Amino acid sequence: MVDNPSPQPMDHPSTEHPSTDRPAQRSKSDRTFDANLPPLLSAQDLCKSFGGVRAVDHASLEVPQGSIIGLIGPNGAGKTTLFNLLSNFTRPDSGDVMFNGTPIHPLPSHQIAQLGLVRTFQVARVLSRLSVLDNMLLATQNQTGEALLNVWTRSRQIAKEERLQRRHALEILDSVGLSHMAHQYAGSLSGGQRKLLEMARALMVNPKLILLDEPAAGVNPTLINQICTHIQQWNREGMTFLIIEHNMDVIMSLCDRVWVMAEGRNLATGTPTEIQTNPAVLAAYLGQ
Ligand SMILES: Nc1ncnc2c1ncn2[C@@H]1O[C@H](COP(=O)(O)OP(=O)(O)OP(=O)(O)O)[C@@H](O)[C@H]1O
Ligand SMILES: [Mg+2]
Repeated sequence: MVDNPSPQPMDHPSTEHPSTDRPAQRSKSDRTFDANLPPLLSAQDLCKSFGGVRAVDHASLEVPQGSIIGLIGPNGAGKTTLFNLLSNFTRPDSGDVMFNGTPIHPLPSHQIAQLGLVRTFQVARVLSRLSVLDNMLLATQNQTGEALLNVWTRSRQIAKEERLQRRHALEILDSVGLSHMAHQYAGSLSGGQRKLLEMARALMVNPKLILLDEPAAGVNPTLINQICTHIQQWNREGMTFLIIEHNMDVIMSLCDRVWVMAEGRNLATGTPTEIQTNPAVLAAYLGQ
């Protein structure tokens, strides 16, 4: 767990940053999700304890297809643990997760990614001694060259796939403004650029849903704006997002709906505006 400074979630609009630094607000016409469709992701009654700590305590959550959903809560509320359960990085003690009609808990993480559910980490995980481009290419799956025998028998097919994947990776890097860094070590990227690289890498598998754990943490305001613009663009193209974030400007500008956790449990859900004025949410943040 990374210890974040306590957020100031209820002070929007803030006076700390000039308005040009704030992520662009979404207009209603941007919104692509249909509340009548079954949810793309639904979690029911999830529990996870570590020794005596109930990190997630009967938590549930729904993510409609095409939406951008926020997940907020004070430090230690269980948000990252819930992400780990949703993506099966951690097995729940009890509860179920359905993704696009499929129960995910019997499946290993790489199969969940193949179904179209990918996630990023609170502390960006990039391989520092590999180039930015190679980090991207590591995300590709089911390539002919992965089977040893094919290296000798299907070399032309392998070369063609590699060319296509490189082109795909460079296009994505270009779209997030990282193509000029493609051949640099990933270790030379700034914290914000690493977050962008993680997102870009997630896009390599054409996911349906991306879980982002604090995409704006430690990122400068200009880059936060860029990240938000990319998320909005990918959402317009049909991608669904679930975003943990302490930066309430980001939550307010991006999210259709917000779920709030405290002490491992669901505390509230509603539109960003409803959540901003919810007394129980205010009390949880103020530690009352
Ligand atoms: N692997 C682990 N082993 C033991 N305790 C853990 C583990 N992972 C999380 N916890 C505990 O579970 C609780 C929830 O942690 P979690 O990281 O999910 O919170 P969070 O809401 O993501 O917090 P933050 O906003 O600070 O990232 C905390 O008390 C934490 O110390
Ligand atoms: Mg966390």
